[in-house]
Parts: sequence; structure tokens; C-alpha cells
Amino acid sequence: MGDKPVVFATRKLPEAVEARLVRDYEAILNPDDKLYTADELVEISAGADAILPCHTEKFTAEVIARLPERVKAIANFSVGYDHVDTAAAKQRGIIVTNTPDVLSDATAEIAILCMLGAARRATEGVALVREAGWKDWSPAFMVGTQTTGKRFGVIGMGRVGQVAAKRARGFDMAVHYTKRSRLDAETEAALGATYHATIEELLPQCDVLSLHCPATPETTGLLNAERIALLPKGAIVVNTARGAVIDDAALIAALKSGHVAAAGLDVFNGEPTDIHPEYRELDNVFGLPHIGSATLETRDGMGFRALDNLDAIFAGKEPVDRVA
Ligand code: DGY
Repeated sequence: MGDKPVVFATRKLPEAVEARLVRDYEAILNPDDKLYTADELVEISAGADAILPCHTEKFTAEVIARLPERVKAIANFSVGYDHVDTAAAKQRGIIVTNTPDVLSDATAEIAILCMLGAARRATEGVALVREAGWKDWSPAFMVGTQTTGKRFGVIGMGRVGQVAAKRARGFDMAVHYTKRSRLDAETEAALGATYHATIEELLPQCDVLSLHCPATPETTGLLNAERIALLPKGAIVVNTARGAVIDDAALIAALKSGHVAAAGLDVFNGEPTDIHPEYRELDNVFGLPHIGSATLETRDGMGFRALDNLDAIFAGKEPVDRVA
């Protein structure tokens, strides 16, 4: 190895991102895109000054404790960093960064797709066409929920939530939101958004509820049975944040009773292989495989942003997206 810092990219990255990584660093790449075990992560990190992981790699306190002294940074290829125990990283003096902003548009697009897919019964519709079960048309056929002009509620009005709200305004929806700290008056006015001080006050105002909060110990199971009961009957639930913010049993019960008309979900507890089996069976679930940020432009943007953070760290500067 030469003089350049060694960066271990845990997954195969977009071509342009790998090209810059290889140009500026000694890169340990993963051309087969293998999902490494915790032991493999620790083993391969032995020669690295920094790690560039995705949310698919879990940097628990135990894994972080086993990382070699040499590792100075975990520069995530993700805005969410619930897969990294930031307290453990901080304790070891490992800098942790994420990639905000660059994926807001792409993820908001998927939130709108989830809203429409759920509201307009896309799971059933796609199955009818693909499985040749479409035999007839009548005024009662495949009638769903119209979203135009309805109320779009946001929990977690951060970057993605704000873009999703802006897109929902394109459907003439009235935006309602709650957030730990209220938006400034100008931003609120630009979004035409109505603020609610608590989740409990927001929920009765949501014909569509879109979740955009990070997964933290405080938000785990945030959408539980008590809160779902506060939604108007026939509401649509959208989740493009993290599966952990939903109590699956409670949502599934509400989807079965019809209290929640449908859900559009891009993220799941136990994803990808151990999601609640009933999500696969219910017709009123429109499910996607965690593709919020999956556009070429965005994935390039995420990679470049992670590299910008590494460049700052190795230049002895403060990385702009430091989270620990
Ligand atoms: C993110 O950036 O957090 C996306 O969910 C992909 O990991």
C-alpha cells in the first residue's frame, strides 16, 4: 500500500464513485457486492483507515469495539445511521458521517409513489394485469381512495419530509406536520403547512400519514395501536423512513379492520428477508424493497458526498456531515 489513506467500501459502489475512490485513495472494493458478516467486516477493516459502509452493515458496539485502532472514520453511504452505534464510535474516537440532502428528491418521489400505490390499489391492479386475472371492467371495479385535495400529514418534517410535502402540494393536498422544533415561519408558509405540537394532535388531521423521522430509541414503534386509532378511518399510511418506526402488529391489525385503508411501505422491520409475513399477503399493502434513494443521480450523489466527508477528514478538516 502507498501513502494514500486506505478506504474499505463494504459494498459495490456506482462506477463514477468507485473511480474517484480509486483515484484518491487506496481502495478495498467489493466487486461481487457480497454482504459481509460482522467477522468479515472486522477482518477486512484490519488494513483500513476508514470504512465506507451502507445501512446493510451493522456497526454495533461489539463490532466497533473489534475494529482496529487504525480505523479513524465510518463515512456512511446513507442518510440514516441507525445501523451504527454512534456512542460506541464516539467513545473510540471514530468519526461518523452520513449523506443528507442528496437523496431527498429521490426518496420523496418514492413517498409519493407509495401514497398513490396504496391509495389506488396498485398491488391488486398490477397482479390483475400480470397474472392475466383481468376479465372485466365496471363502475365498482378497483375503486380506491383519491388523494387530490386531501390532507397530507408528515411526522419528521426534515429534508425528505419537506420535499414530500412540496410534491403533495402538487396534488392540492393540505400539508399538516409535527416536528421536534417547528419550522421557521417562512418555510412553513412556503409549504403552506399547518404545525401541530404533538403527534396526537396531528394524527386526526391525516388522510395520508407519511413517516419521515429517523429510527432512534425514541421513535421505535412510534406508530403504535393507540396512535393508529387517532387516524381518521380509511387513512393511508406511508413509510419511507425506517421499518422500526412502525409497530407491525398494530398496523397489520388496522389494515385488516379497514381502519387504515392501505399502506405504502418502502422500508420494513426485518428487511429484507424477515419482514412480517402478512405484509406479503395483504392486498392493501403496496410494498417496495427499500428503493427510496435508488436512482443513478442520487446514488452517485450519495457516494460523492461520502467521499467529500472522507476528503475533509483526511485533510484534517471537520466533515460537513459529521453525526458523531
Ligand atoms: C438512507 O440513505 O438512509 C437510505 O435509506 C439508504 O440507506
